[in-house]
Amino acid sequence: MKIKMSVLALATAAVFALSSLSSAFAEPIKLKFSHVVAENTPKGQMATKFKDLVAERLKGKVVVEIYPNGQLFGDNKVLEALLLGDVHLASPSLSKFKKYTKKLQIFDLPFLFNDMAAAERFQQSEAGQSLLKTVEKKGLIGLGYMHNGMKQLSAAKALHTPADAKGLKFRIMSSDVLAAQFEALAATPLKKPYSEVFTLLQTKAIDGQENTWSNIHSKKFYEVQDNITSSDHGLLDYMVVTSAEFWKGLPDDVRTELKKALDESIAFGNKVAAEKSKSDKQAIIDSKRTNVIELSKEERQKWIDTMQPVWKKFEAIVGKDMLDAAIASNKE
Ligand code: LMR
Repeated sequence: MKIKMSVLALATAAVFALSSLSSAFAEPIKLKFSHVVAENTPKGQMATKFKDLVAERLKGKVVVEIYPNGQLFGDNKVLEALLLGDVHLASPSLSKFKKYTKKLQIFDLPFLFNDMAAAERFQQSEAGQSLLKTVEKKGLIGLGYMHNGMKQLSAAKALHTPADAKGLKFRIMSSDVLAAQFEALAATPLKKPYSEVFTLLQTKAIDGQENTWSNIHSKKFYEVQDNITSSDHGLLDYMVVTSAEFWKGLPDDVRTELKKALDESIAFGNKVAAEKSKSDKQAIIDSKRTNVIELSKEERQKWIDTMQPVWKKFEAIVGKDMLDAAIASNKE
């Protein structure tokens, strides 16, 4: 009996030792984060912050690898790559989800939000949070919104009024709202990947584009565009996404810790975004490489009057109630 007991104790100890040995040598979970912008942008800095927090708090359990500048996937492929498990985290702009949900098109409506505070209020509202869930039926999980900022219009030609844009070719993200917005200007929209914008502008294959100060600065679009109109005509924000399969397959404690680190990183990235929309604009002005055009109140109103009719075309798709909720977020 005694011998039997000690054999049992030995076997138990051996199993215990082996399992702790194997967990000590278990490979950490590799989390690949793919994005298309430069590392010094709000999104780039958010990703770095996330990697650092995870290294600090989940040492040996999770390793984050960041692939910036579209190194691994462009935004037209990254959501597919998430579903295939080739990457695990991405943060495309809200304009790039058309294949997965049409509801996010609301964020592309021109002159919808008066400022970033209004966009933030809407995103954090019940209505805004419900939009994160619209990608779930396609196997994705929206983990949160992140800001970049308001878009500006750049072109070879000076754009003071909508009539100045007539007949010009503009690169847009893959969004039908953005296509309609440029059609309202009697301009030609061209859906092209972010990675091609600089060359298209440099070679004059296109006349202009719309983007945030941070993207115009970090990708040097201002060096190949003679004019930038400070129009603040639309929003460029992101949804941080993962795949349901990856996220739900994580151990509970790891998932909780990752979400916490991500929320903190997004808050950090949002601060960077707010700072950069001012400092990158100033850096562009100081460079003297381009002419930054400030609109008078009357000129701005003309852009609003020309672009805003686009809302009507998309009201049925985004939903009247959702549109009303977004409009209401302009009031504090
Ligand atoms: C663009 O394609 O212009 C943007 O979505 C790039 C980005 O991620 O900010």
